[in-house]
Amino acid sequence: MTAAPRCVRVDVLGGDPLGRGDRLVVSWWLPEGASAQSAYRVVTDDGHDSGWVESDQQTYVDVPGPYTSRRSTDVRVRVHTDLGETSWSEPVLLRVGLLDASDWSASWIGVAEDVVAPKGERPAYWLRSTVDVLDPAGATLHVTALGLYEAFVNGARVGDVELAPGYTQYARRVQHQTYDVSRLLRPGVNVVAVLLADGWYRGQVGTPRAADQFGTTTALRVQLESGASTVLTTDASWRTAPSHVLRADLIGGQTEDRLLVDYRIHDAAYDDSAWSAAVRREVDVAVVPSIAPPVRRVEEIRPVSVTRLDDGASIVDLGQNINGWLRLRDLGPEGTTLTLRHGEHLDAAGDLTTAHLDVHIPIMPPMPLGQVDDVTSAGVEGDVFEPRFTTHGFQYARIEGHPDALAPDDVTGVVVHSDLRRTGWFECSDDRLTRLHEAVVWSLRDNVCGIPTDCPQRERAGWTGDWQVFASTAARLYDVNAFSRTWLRDVALDQREDGCVANHAPSVPVEGFAGPMAGLQGSAGWGDAVVSVPWDLYRATGDLSLLRETWGPASAWVDYAAGRAAGGRHPARVAARPDPAPHEIYLWDTGFHWGEWLEPGFEITDFGAFAGADKSEVATAYLHRSAAQLASIGQLIGADPAAIERYRTIADGARVAWRSEFVDDGRLVVQTQASHVRALAFGLVPDDQRPAVAARLAELVAEAGDHLATGFLSTGLLMHTLADTGHLDTAYTVLLQDSEPSWLTMIDRGATTVWERWNGVSADGTAYESLNHYSKGTVADFLHGYVGGLQPTSPGYRTFEVRPQPGGGLTWAHVRHDSPFGTIDVRWRTGAGRFVLDLEVPGATSAVVVLPDGTSHDALPGSRTFECAEV
Ligand code: BGC
Repeated sequence: MTAAPRCVRVDVLGGDPLGRGDRLVVSWWLPEGASAQSAYRVVTDDGHDSGWVESDQQTYVDVPGPYTSRRSTDVRVRVHTDLGETSWSEPVLLRVGLLDASDWSASWIGVAEDVVAPKGERPAYWLRSTVDVLDPAGATLHVTALGLYEAFVNGARVGDVELAPGYTQYARRVQHQTYDVSRLLRPGVNVVAVLLADGWYRGQVGTPRAADQFGTTTALRVQLESGASTVLTTDASWRTAPSHVLRADLIGGQTEDRLLVDYRIHDAAYDDSAWSAAVRREVDVAVVPSIAPPVRRVEEIRPVSVTRLDDGASIVDLGQNINGWLRLRDLGPEGTTLTLRHGEHLDAAGDLTTAHLDVHIPIMPPMPLGQVDDVTSAGVEGDVFEPRFTTHGFQYARIEGHPDALAPDDVTGVVVHSDLRRTGWFECSDDRLTRLHEAVVWSLRDNVCGIPTDCPQRERAGWTGDWQVFASTAARLYDVNAFSRTWLRDVALDQREDGCVANHAPSVPVEGFAGPMAGLQGSAGWGDAVVSVPWDLYRATGDLSLLRETWGPASAWVDYAAGRAAGGRHPARVAARPDPAPHEIYLWDTGFHWGEWLEPGFEITDFGAFAGADKSEVATAYLHRSAAQLASIGQLIGADPAAIERYRTIADGARVAWRSEFVDDGRLVVQTQASHVRALAFGLVPDDQRPAVAARLAELVAEAGDHLATGFLSTGLLMHTLADTGHLDTAYTVLLQDSEPSWLTMIDRGATTVWERWNGVSADGTAYESLNHYSKGTVADFLHGYVGGLQPTSPGYRTFEVRPQPGGGLTWAHVRHDSPFGTIDVRWRTGAGRFVLDLEVPGATSAVVVLPDGTSHDALPGSRTFECAEV
């Protein structure tokens, strides 16, 4: 008997956006030293057994037994490998919540509010009940809310999930959580008390700080089950009262009066007759299980400094831009009110500034950032302030109102995000690149709070384009599969009937199809996320089910885009060429598109002109790429051959259209780096023209003083394109460029996260826009895939290539990736005229190593060293 399979994980694989047809699967790594698996067996302790199955499959294997509500069981795996039969793996607990509407007997309830405070100023309420429990063993609490909830049993916090139930398209679906509360309950009378706040449901969201986007009243649903019986449900007998949380808004911040904290409410004997009766709410929304890792407090950070300003305020510097909040220990004497302002930047005087994050929308008055907490001290030793119904994107906080100086020990930065499994690491001989990689990792972490967001402070919105650009890089760094799947469900639910994809998921009415920005939806490069994100994740994980699940929405989008291309002409083109050329049916030159967006120096001076501009160079390129990806997806999942053919035709047609309009005798009409990148990365120019176009791209970089000049969409493709077309030196020049615009400018100017703009902090120290947008962090994919040289050659890294492309004076690099089959470790170094590569290949996979001298070598599972002369 050999050692057990490792890293055993249970996942939910997809049916449809409402979770119908989902199934449970298990994945594992082979034990250390094993190279191949010949059979597996999966058992559950609720009596299901796959029996021995002769197969080398070890990812996404069905868990035996049904996917039914309330199933709770351990899953174990045992395999046969070339080393023999293994022992059983460590058990993995699988706990299924409530899958059907009929599983809920609890009513939705809410708080009768006499007056509803203005947006951003609304409190959290207590909702409370007692329950007699005979036997706590195996008791389970199911909780969901329209709003955010925090549940307590007998005064103890239930679970460790933050910002529950999470952000989904609440008009269609809301998640619930299922907790084992057997250890919190006691035989006899127990108190269940829940704090309920606005959250995304009713609080401020997105750019316009709109509130009440999904409803005007919050609601709670709780069901406590013990053994086979439901012992407590939310109903009109629950009592409600205001709490010590006087204001709770995700963007605005939180206010607490600690003098109002009353722990007696958690006693069974507490008399809540002065409280108000809960009211029933009619809610018609699907309640679904959460299929992705929840948001948690994942790390705590000690400030690097706390500095007192002349006005008595303290500036806390965490040394790292994070998403989360501060936990404050010294609240001052009773009655002291402290104000905590959070931001990303200090001005020249060392004081907090958030001006760069204030919202300026042409048609609205400017809106301040928010992110301000207040707490009034109860003067109780040991009392702490930790706001959990709000999050802040910040590195610095300004704490006002404390009579004494605060010390670093009084303040803790609490990092809050989806608790994803890390999968990728990178370091190299140039410390600035290692730090750049860390900044990318942090920007990802700071922007995965239930959904992928653009930034954690200003907008916090699930912009489709941002994940379109970044998902493949994200998949190098963290396991974002389930996280992306649940978000893609909202992309699909938010899709308009005609296939148009909204700017964000979840889409909020005022910023979506129903509001004044209806005409700004369906942008190329943004809507294409519905095709490219599943595709990128499939390449990283080998999970075909995501491609099946998203085939419908992805085809609808490409059909929509192709329809728009065929159905209209840009007025400028009509004027210039009254009769349409035949290729124009695939030229997408109408509608609103964000375009390349944020190239260095980009400013919108006239929004009307920007919105009405012809962006067909971008839109047609994406139509080509998405249609081509869709045809490949269709092939993989066995879609209708006629559909596959249709997408091939669209892809070919869009390419012809692009060439006809944007290539003139081998030279690109649009003389930007971005256009050249697209031409090469999307295969838009004929093969024989590629070298010239690539040479011109390198020339454009040189003409820009060895700088990149790309924006949102093509920055992530620039480095790869240069390297792939024989311009590795130029790629390294851009990578190591340290004057603006460049990545290293960010690092040299102290960035700990990736900026939205190339001039995020200008030379004079002024900040512009968000300092925490991951889109430019796609450079990490280049660090892993080119500097480190690791590329999957089949989905999920079953086979992969290791082809380091050293340059830029680097003398060593180290990449590690925890692939679906195990850890891949690549380390190379140069010295004394030799290039030496140490490689670890996990079981069940194989690699091809291509050394800088061009020689290629097969690598089987295990550790090996390869060497060649330095070139
Ligand atoms: C966001 C983006 C988004 C963009 C649309 C910005 O305000 O922060 O990252 O994709 O708008 O162009």
